[in-house]
Amino acid sequence: MKLNNKILLEAKRLDKWDNTADVKELLSVLNEGIILEIGCGTGTIIESLSNCLNNSKFYGIDIEPHFIQRAKNKKIQNAEFLIANATKRTFKANSFDTVILRDSLHEIRKKEGKKGVFLALKNIYYYLKEGGSLIIRDGLTPNQKKIEFILANRKMELIFEEFIEYSGREFQRKNSRIVMLVKDFVYFLSKIKKIESLNTSLEESKHYNLEEYKKILNSNGFEVLSQKKYKFSLEKYPGIITNKRDMPFSYIMFLCKKIIK
Ligand SMILES: C[S@@+](CC[C@H](N)C(=O)[O-])C[C@H]1O[C@@H](n2cnc3c(N)ncnc32)[C@H](O)[C@@H]1O
Repeated sequence: MKLNNKILLEAKRLDKWDNTADVKELLSVLNEGIILEIGCGTGTIIESLSNCLNNSKFYGIDIEPHFIQRAKNKKIQNAEFLIANATKRTFKANSFDTVILRDSLHEIRKKEGKKGVFLALKNIYYYLKEGGSLIIRDGLTPNQKKIEFILANRKMELIFEEFIEYSGREFQRKNSRIVMLVKDFVYFLSKIKKIESLNTSLEESKHYNLEEYKKILNSNGFEVLSQKKYKFSLEKYPGIITNKRDMPFSYIMFLCKKIIK
């Protein structure tokens, strides 16, 4: 199997992604049971979760064969991995206690469009047992406000220049400060590591805002039981200076229940 560079880079990024904080958050709402992760990538989340939930059985599906091969190579005892598209029906009805979508809903939307998201949620509804849970953790479209920040060193200035060159996003300079739309700042933050590692996939990810998430969840048979928003952490960006309270939200986690129609 000849692999393209983009897939290899993404596989390595997924394997190296520090998911400690996310795993902790997932565990706070996850019970033992039969658990499916859709868009499981290289299986890193399942690997971490399975270490803590020893009495559970995990299934992971992903559309990318190389990711599934890497997941299988991890030889996780209580997990099985399959190549499958989230939009295609793969499991029997009422098979799972919990379904997890961690950073994969926006990817399904990118690859399969609005209809793909709808089909994936229909399938999840079908797979879940009565009273089963859907956990979604994904990006959140920010508001249309502006933010002011300072690029604290030459390295960050160069990264910013490259980002602007690639994206064409607008900004103003106010003395040493940069002023730009929060949504463009979020796009910049999310690509800093990729620019640093000379990764050329700098395409902007499209996420839903809070209202849009709730609408698609409710219209597909899910009730939102809880939601928690997480901010970008300034500590992770030493080359950027701004007011901590102005830092935008990075992602949201929903705990939903299947509503019996
Ligand atoms: C950002 S990665 C997240 C991987 C994993 N959930 C994690 O947190 O490490 C998104 C994943 O969704 C997968 N994906 C995208 N569209 C898909 C689809 N239609 N069906 C199944 N998986 C899909 C991608 O191949 C990719 O592995």
